[in-house]
Amino acid sequence: MAHETDIPSDDDAQLQPPQDQNAAADADVSSADSMPLADDVPDHTEPTTEPVEFKVDTAQRVKRLPPYMFGRINNLLYQKRRAGEDVIDMGMGNPSDPPQQLVVDKLAEAAANPRVHGYSKSNGIQNLRREVATKYSRKYGVTLDPDEEVIVCLGSKEGFSHMCLALMGPGDTAIVPAPYFPVHTYAVALAGGNVISLEVNDSEKFLQNVAYTCQHLYPKPKLLIINYPHNPSTVTVEQGFYDEVVKLAKRYGFMVISDFAYADVAFDGYQPPSFLSSPGASDVGVEFTTMSKGYNMAGWRIGFCSGNREMIKALATIKGYYDYGMFQAVQVAAIMALRETEDAVLEQSRIYESRRNVLCEGLSRLGWDFEVPKAGMFVWARFPQEWQDQMSTMDFAMKLLEEGNVAVSPGTGFGTTGEGYLRMALVENENRLRQGVRQIKACLK
Ligand SMILES: Cc1ncc(COP(=O)(O)O)c(C=O)c1O
Repeated sequence: MAHETDIPSDDDAQLQPPQDQNAAADADVSSADSMPLADDVPDHTEPTTEPVEFKVDTAQRVKRLPPYMFGRINNLLYQKRRAGEDVIDMGMGNPSDPPQQLVVDKLAEAAANPRVHGYSKSNGIQNLRREVATKYSRKYGVTLDPDEEVIVCLGSKEGFSHMCLALMGPGDTAIVPAPYFPVHTYAVALAGGNVISLEVNDSEKFLQNVAYTCQHLYPKPKLLIINYPHNPSTVTVEQGFYDEVVKLAKRYGFMVISDFAYADVAFDGYQPPSFLSSPGASDVGVEFTTMSKGYNMAGWRIGFCSGNREMIKALATIKGYYDYGMFQAVQVAAIMALRETEDAVLEQSRIYESRRNVLCEGLSRLGWDFEVPKAGMFVWARFPQEWQDQMSTMDFAMKLLEEGNVAVSPGTGFGTTGEGYLRMALVENENRLRQGVRQIKACLK
């Protein structure tokens, strides 16, 4: 059955652009000879060729990601859990303690308000941004405009990834510390950029290498990613380090992202400095903070990006397309946490400090080699050379899980510079950490 719209009307013909005569003649031939008449219109439900095998063809940005390094460990851990085995889990830096009760109560109270259930603002509610600015002022002496220099993210990882998407594209290069927290490298790769990894263990050398790379790479690096206290290596820095970073950024024209995820977890009186406290830092970069670690709110997905207003505007633009902001009840409870639970954050740090002491004492007794961390949620330890000679880091981590029921992260999950290392998260209590060390010892007998 013919539809009127299948045949061009005179009005349609009048809308065609003018053509030269030959073209018009060609057009006539083609319309006369091959244009399907109403009754000849092909039936697209009838197959005209052999069916092809359907294949989901993902984008290059997905294809070029390496296999997930923690997959083997996670699968075995899952199987063991299902089989009811008790595994001492030092694998993921996933806090195991709850947030403060008054924060949970505030969430429940806020969620009971019928007016908070709609879409929120993608850059976060103003009172939460204000609270972040207040904390920066109180703790680091940094003045921030909550409207233009702070944005709320769905966890700092989301914000970081989208910031890379906002700043990086094909042909751009970022410098990333090695070993690396995976998203530091792969968010750049997902944005189409290239990565140069520089070893993080000696901070002075790291700065020299940044300068050297800027002098010799063409085009110059566009972005420097830094993360102190560093995950996984636990390296920390003092304010002077950031002062030098700002100077280098201004000299060579690169932007800076500081991932300050472990701002609130520090030991022995050490206070991790903020990149934004260095003079001129907001001219060149931003800093991500989170409520996942110090506040035990990892599942709530609350992070912040603060600093350079143009970079924040670029992130806000991307987020405006991608998300509708965080559930407002969560944001209201986060305000309460920032305002009222600073003492609990300090207490949580002391808990991690005691666990660090227990684990480090145990590993020392085993004769393992490591730096006692001054901050963060991990111990980054070399396992004995005799075992390194026999198997890869991944296989060693699998052995500890398979035979010792102890889960750790193999250092190679953080790049090749992690070969020979294990990252052990301080998320089990002291007794279980002691037990974990005993199980490691027994497994290696
Ligand atoms: C260095 C670093 N940055 C960011 C994150 C992610 O934090 P968030 O929970 O805020 O996304 C983590 C979590 O393990 C981390 O170790």
